[in-house]
Amino acid sequence: MRPPPPPLLLLLLLLGGRGAAASPADSLSQLPAPRNPKVHLYNAERVLSWEPVSLSNDSRPVVYQVQYKYASGSQWYDFSVDSIGVNCMNITTTECDFTPTSPSQEFLPHLNVSLRVRAKVGDLVSTWVRVPWFQYLRNVTVGPPENVWVTPGEGSLVIRFSSPFDISPSSATFLYYVHYWEKGGIQKVKGPFRSNSIVLNDLKPLREYCLQVKAQLVWTVSKLSRLGHLSNVSCYETAADATTKLQQIIIIAVGIFLLLLALAGACFFLVLKYKGLIKYWFHSPPTIPLQIEEYLKDPSQPILEALDKDSSPKDDAWDSVSIVSFPEKEREDVLQSTLN
Ligand SMILES: *[C@@H]1O[C@H](CO)[C@@H](O)[C@H](O)[C@H]1NC(C)=O
Ligand SMILES: *[C@@H]1O[C@H](CO)[C@@H](O)[C@H](O)[C@H]1NC(C)=O
Ligand SMILES: *[C@@H]1O[C@H](CO)[C@@H](O)[C@H](O)[C@H]1NC(C)=O
Ligand SMILES: *[C@@H]1O[C@H](CO)[C@@H](O)[C@H](O)[C@H]1NC(C)=O
Ligand SMILES: *[C@@H]1O[C@H](CO)[C@@H](O)[C@H](O)[C@H]1NC(C)=O
Repeated sequence: MRPPPPPLLLLLLLLGGRGAAASPADSLSQLPAPRNPKVHLYNAERVLSWEPVSLSNDSRPVVYQVQYKYASGSQWYDFSVDSIGVNCMNITTTECDFTPTSPSQEFLPHLNVSLRVRAKVGDLVSTWVRVPWFQYLRNVTVGPPENVWVTPGEGSLVIRFSSPFDISPSSATFLYYVHYWEKGGIQKVKGPFRSNSIVLNDLKPLREYCLQVKAQLVWTVSKLSRLGHLSNVSCYETAADATTKLQQIIIIAVGIFLLLLALAGACFFLVLKYKGLIKYWFHSPPTIPLQIEEYLKDPSQPILEALDKDSSPKDDAWDSVSIVSFPEKEREDVLQSTLN
């Protein structure tokens, strides 16, 4: 086993290796470079970010500079408002957001782009750090379709949504898929669809279905495609179709009919059972005028006098008398005497 080289020798070796690059390389390497640069490509968002450089003995602010290059060329360009619509030449933030705000201010989505970033403090600069090359259409992460709007139909669901983001139709198009399942059932996938409106029409009426939609970004020229994320699960109940509606109406009608029948039957039964009682309630016995009742209790009392007591002299006694036409002889006598 070889003994490790003494530290002094190692240092001399390192310094010797650098000798050729001399003065400018030394001043450049004094500032540490930003670490872990990453390109974030999500829907329309395009952001380059990195970890900050911190200097313990320098109070001056650290700024960062970002540049881009196309694979077809060798020239690096600054991120300036003129070139790309954003200024990332001397920024203090640790990210450069180059999300296009207008179609003219973007890298063409099919171009092979490389990015690099470095830190600067005063005259000091760090080395450049590069991020892997990317083509927007190849590397973008496609989010779920947005504003998913579902209208339950008769044994169907109509799904409408908007695309995850806007893309020039000349460079790429979206295709859509819908994952759906009856609650507790197995999942099915329908697609691809070009339209932002999908109709699932082989569903059972009055059942709850859950669904998710996803987009696929298809790069027109290369036929490369990126599958997007699924939207959140949402569940809906299908409406009744014509036959189930008819069934419902028939069931309700039959139900009402049976109910009425049962009520009628119950009434009939009650009437039969409590016949006497009902008769008693509905036909109260005719009441006899008080004087006549008294007279009937005590027939010796002269009825006409009893009646005359109450009626005025002008009143015709005939009527009162004619009402009380009893067959008994006793009263016929009374009647006779009155007529005479
Ligand atoms: C302090 O900062 C200077 C550059 O401003 C650098 O050359 C030097 O190495 C730093 N010292 C330490 C201890 O970090
Ligand atoms: C993009 O450019 C890099 C070099 O900058 C190259 O290695 C890579 O293969 C290119 N990618 C495509 C798809 O052309
Ligand atoms: C950025 O900072 C450098 C010095 O580090 C300076 O020379 C240059 O003019 C600045 N550019 C802008 C656009 O501020
Ligand atoms: C873009 O995708 C290619 C492979 O398709 C990969 O090699 C490259 O590193 C990706 N670029 C970024 C920035 O992730
Ligand atoms: C999807 O669900 C997650 C958490 O469940 C929520 O944070 C997110 O906002 C939802 N997305 C939409 C588009 O509703």
